[in-house]
Amino acid sequence: MRHFIDLATAGRGGLRAILDEAHRRKADRSGRAKGDVDADAPLSGHVLACIFEKPSTRTRFSFDVAMRQLGGTTIVTSAGEMQLGRGETVGDTARILSRFVDAVMLRCASHATIEELGNVATVPVINGLTDLTHPCQAMADLMTVEERLGRPVGDTCWAWCGDGNNMAHSLIEAASVMGFELRLGVPHGYDPDSGVVATAAARGGNIDILHDPRAAVDGVDVVATDTWVSMGQAAPKDKLGAMAKFQVTSALMAHAAPHAVFLHCLPVHRGEEVTADVIDGPQSAVWDEAENRLHVQKAILLWCLGKIG
Ligand code: CP
Ligand code: NVA
Repeated sequence: MRHFIDLATAGRGGLRAILDEAHRRKADRSGRAKGDVDADAPLSGHVLACIFEKPSTRTRFSFDVAMRQLGGTTIVTSAGEMQLGRGETVGDTARILSRFVDAVMLRCASHATIEELGNVATVPVINGLTDLTHPCQAMADLMTVEERLGRPVGDTCWAWCGDGNNMAHSLIEAASVMGFELRLGVPHGYDPDSGVVATAAARGGNIDILHDPRAAVDGVDVVATDTWVSMGQAAPKDKLGAMAKFQVTSALMAHAAPHAVFLHCLPVHRGEEVTADVIDGPQSAVWDEAENRLHVQKAILLWCLGKIG
């Protein structure tokens, strides 16, 4: 049984298989209606539970449509509508869900919750975002970069600008598994989790923590950022001030390679982490990046259920 809680579990071979499948299935769907089932209907008869402790637009819709296109079905609910919301344990929830569905996608506040679900469930568990990581989004980012730049992600160099948050953590993990260089331009006091960085370094990851946005983006192929205040976070008064010089502007993008791609997992706060001219400009790949959540998650579901890789 394969969980998709952390990127490293799948390893480079697993992530490569997922990316290849996502590119192939996306090309095969060209011109087809969004609700059409893929010709091979590989998850016919399968049910996915999608459970949300936090709001979501992209993750919710992309997983639901992904299962429809694979020939399966979904049950989408908020955790608050389940007995989980009134104290039924995560372990008991895992035991029950394993009797009803073939896989569980969970978005939750604490990373420990999804680890506990994975420890008890007898069906695959997929991480739809925790306070620590967002691996499905990172996979969509890798896919988008390969699509835009036309080369394997391992041959690219990335900069992250802003908060050392859950997205930054998954890109650190992705960089160390897939072998791309990642420079993080983050303010002092907002570094990524030291355990995540140490694990990536032990894996041989080429990860640099810099506190200067210009040095971070110098000559890179990809510039990525995210909101300065993540869901459920209190924003200390001085945080926005500390982040200000890490805003992605056209002046900052000018220090990246001329072909550089701008990524943002969305939702965006124009005028905070990125200016409108960048996110709405020609270097931005954010709408393809959002669409690719669908294609890559189809491949993640197929990997989890043993159909590929
Ligand atoms: N990027 C992302 O995960 O978006 P949602 O919060 O809308 O799912
Ligand atoms: N870092 C953001 C990502 C949202 C998709 C958050 O956790 O709110």
